[in-house]
Amino acid sequence: MRAVVVRGCGNPASVAVVDGAEAEPGPGEVVVRAEAMGVGYVDVMASRGLYAYFPGPGSSPGLEVAGVVESTGPGVPPGLVGQRVLGLPAFGGLAEAVAVSADRVLPLDDGMEPDVAVALGVNALVAEIGLGRAGIGPDGRVLVRGAGGGIGALATQIAAAHGAHVTAVTSGPDRARALLASGATRTVGRDEAPALERDVDIVVDTVGGPELADHLRLLAPNGHYLLCGAAGGVPSGADLEVIVEMFHSSPTLHAFSLNSVGAADLRASWARVSALVGTGKVTGIVAERYPLAAGPEALRAVERGGAFGKVVLHP
Ligand SMILES: NC(=O)c1ccc[n+]([C@@H]2O[C@H](COP(=O)([O-])OP(=O)(O)OC[C@H]3O[C@@H](n4cnc5c(N)ncnc54)[C@H](OP(=O)(O)O)[C@@H]3O)[C@@H](O)[C@H]2O)c1
Repeated sequence: MRAVVVRGCGNPASVAVVDGAEAEPGPGEVVVRAEAMGVGYVDVMASRGLYAYFPGPGSSPGLEVAGVVESTGPGVPPGLVGQRVLGLPAFGGLAEAVAVSADRVLPLDDGMEPDVAVALGVNALVAEIGLGRAGIGPDGRVLVRGAGGGIGALATQIAAAHGAHVTAVTSGPDRARALLASGATRTVGRDEAPALERDVDIVVDTVGGPELADHLRLLAPNGHYLLCGAAGGVPSGADLEVIVEMFHSSPTLHAFSLNSVGAADLRASWARVSALVGTGKVTGIVAERYPLAAGPEALRAVERGGAFGKVVLHP
């Protein structure tokens, strides 16, 4: 079985496509035979050795795979064999087949293409559940930081689908155009955002870093700040002290990771995402497609950034 494997973590990482042992389902697991695999920035961080849950050299990155259940392990109903699913492995997903906990396997609607499923994948689930926890509703004022990225683009679409007014903070005219076409009310440049009105109900932040405080200050009274990524670096304690400065406007700061979400909530969110796809208000956008043999190149494409949508591998 071929897989994209990190041989040495670092920047640059040493990554190769290798032929290894077939995937076997352990207790509570299924093996998903891949038809499409999603590549995300988190895989770049893993290959650099910067992601806590990545097992390290010798392992494959990859957190999302769409395909067919090929076999089931002890404790899993054999009736799952043959089902089309989106699987969310704890890494190992850039491979022809991968063992996934049966709790993290989600059914694909008839007609949902594998490429679309992985283009939605982790990003749509983070955006949908995160926005729900922050209380998204019609006419809400939402600001998305890193809006041109994987999570940001889906947060923009999903918030707009709820009837919210979305300000998309992004880095260039092409991304701005694509975000307006995805439902954003307006776009602003990264440098412009800190000077905006302080009237935002929900900030979705996938960037973090030292500018986090400037964006926290944009919250209206009782606003929610959803910190779900750190593409710009991990914020320091000093960046977070602004929450005390803002005490009397009762801000809420949510840290949100999909790792904390249980099986039932994952399934419910995926059903809501699939329903939004059915309405045409949310789409899984594919930026680039590569064969598995070009996996290292696909990782470099994600590392370079700039593409709008998902980088997808095919077996
Ligand atoms: N919470 C979770 O469960 C979860 C799950 C998966 C990933 N993540 C994390 O979420 C983060 C984003 O993931 P992603 O897949 O959306 O990444 P991504 O596709 O690379 O998007 C990040 C976006 O942030 C913006 N950006 C990057 N560096 C920046 C900087 N220094 N200053 C300002 N903006 C910057 C860019 O958007 P613009 O060009 O539009 O500005 C970029 O496209 C990563 O840290 C990832 O590890 C979290």
